[in-house]
Amino acid sequence: MRTRVAFVLTIASACGADYTTPTPDAPATAAVTWYQDAGPIVAKHCMSCHQTGGIAPFSLTTYDAAAEVAQQMVVQVQAKTMPPFNASEQSDCTPRFGWKDDPRLSAQEIQTIADWVSDGAHAGTKVDIPVPSTAGLTGITQSLTPTVPWSASGTRDQFICTILDPQSTGAWLTGLQVRPGNAKVVHHAVITEVTPSATTDALVAAHGIGVPFDCSTMQQPGDIIVDIWTPGNTPLETPSDLAVPVLAGSKFVLQIHYHPAGTYADPDATSLDLRMSTAWPRRMYTMAAFGNAVAAPQLLPDPDDRVAGVPEFRIPANKADHYEHMTFPITTLGGLTDVRFYSVNPHQHLIGTHAQGVITRAAPTVDQPATECLANGPWNFDWQRTYVYDAPLDSLPSVAVGDTIDVTCHWNNTISNPFEQRALADASLVAPVDVGLGEGQSTDEMCLEIFGISIPAPAAPLARTTPIASDLPDLSALVRR
Ligand code: HEC
Repeated sequence: MRTRVAFVLTIASACGADYTTPTPDAPATAAVTWYQDAGPIVAKHCMSCHQTGGIAPFSLTTYDAAAEVAQQMVVQVQAKTMPPFNASEQSDCTPRFGWKDDPRLSAQEIQTIADWVSDGAHAGTKVDIPVPSTAGLTGITQSLTPTVPWSASGTRDQFICTILDPQSTGAWLTGLQVRPGNAKVVHHAVITEVTPSATTDALVAAHGIGVPFDCSTMQQPGDIIVDIWTPGNTPLETPSDLAVPVLAGSKFVLQIHYHPAGTYADPDATSLDLRMSTAWPRRMYTMAAFGNAVAAPQLLPDPDDRVAGVPEFRIPANKADHYEHMTFPITTLGGLTDVRFYSVNPHQHLIGTHAQGVITRAAPTVDQPATECLANGPWNFDWQRTYVYDAPLDSLPSVAVGDTIDVTCHWNNTISNPFEQRALADASLVAPVDVGLGEGQSTDEMCLEIFGISIPAPAAPLARTTPIASDLPDLSALVRR
């Protein structure tokens, strides 16, 4: 860094600039500056959130704003807590490919931010640093919003469904963004597609379009799981040759898990932004989740089981590192071949600390190793996201009959875990309790790896007989909403 700045000063002097008189902002000794060094890094890695209207609480788009929090910026980038990204590379489990849109700073970039601050956080010579747009879905073709907002209230969590009509005449979806109306109470959202059938007609007749209702009155959860949204997550976006089929007459069911936490909440009307096209893709996108096993044989024993050899999903109170290990043999894929993992979205609740997914292949090939790490990383409830493998569609990790998927999660159920205090406060408890598998209460936990799946697209025309997620028994049966 220092040599580079010396070079810049030499050029300046050759151009006749008087560098012997330092400006207040950039004394001749200032090595690393905002405009020349730190600013471009912050623009690339931080400003998409840290700008007016972005999800971060303060802006970092100007020198003045950044200089004010310069020291905190160093702390965050050195601790690798900013930008938030919870995929890790460890010797026991490192995914084969990198991640698309990986926001992490290189060691060199972290050093530059640290040098900028230790040199006095100078501005340098003012140049324009363009602010990137906030991360969002591009090419939106329509937006759907419930016509009646929902007011979440009480202390129990609520599951509220709304049928939305994309008025599809047969199309493919390559992008979907969930925009919560009241982010304080929207805990997560699941978007499913109900394909045209007598059942769908009855559903629409019973509830209407755009009107929220209690999901427990709905018989079927939907035929195709399109997206699972959690706070902080990026939009669903696929390349044009991978898309979700939206059959003519299909409806979307927006299922929202509200967490009112005992407070009165302003009404919520969560919108869906959609990007749809009629171009026929090469591959079809769907979703499948592995995890949440409640008993043997999928749930394996752990040292904290009360009866040795009888596995139970129980995270004991005051246990700082408890794990559950689950194993899922793939016995059928509904006749499909060339089934591949496109993305992974780990899921735990408040007190989770780590999640890992591994596939063991019965018939490894040159391209598809015998064992492959599919996901690995620390868990942070506030930073949930979908990680997309950075690989061409035809090189992605594959899954075939005979393979096995293993999922392992860790939790810290002690008061030393800051999230424990949030969970206890939410549940009006003062001390940790044994925690089990569930979704209704703040103290319930989960352990899931939710995968985006790429399968060959069928030939036209697209009909309900097309193999879709619900026809993949081993995959879809494991999805818990
Ligand atoms: C994905 C969005 C996002 C990105 C990208 C991002 N931040 Fe943040 N940042 C946030 C949010 C939201 C908060 C407040 C919540 C929190 O602290 O977790 C925050 C908080 C912070 C804080 C205050 C933390 C504290 O507790 O004192 C600092 C400093 C910070 N960010 C710096 C950065 C820097 C530097 C970068 C780039 C290297 C960056 N952030 C990238 C969203 C983001």
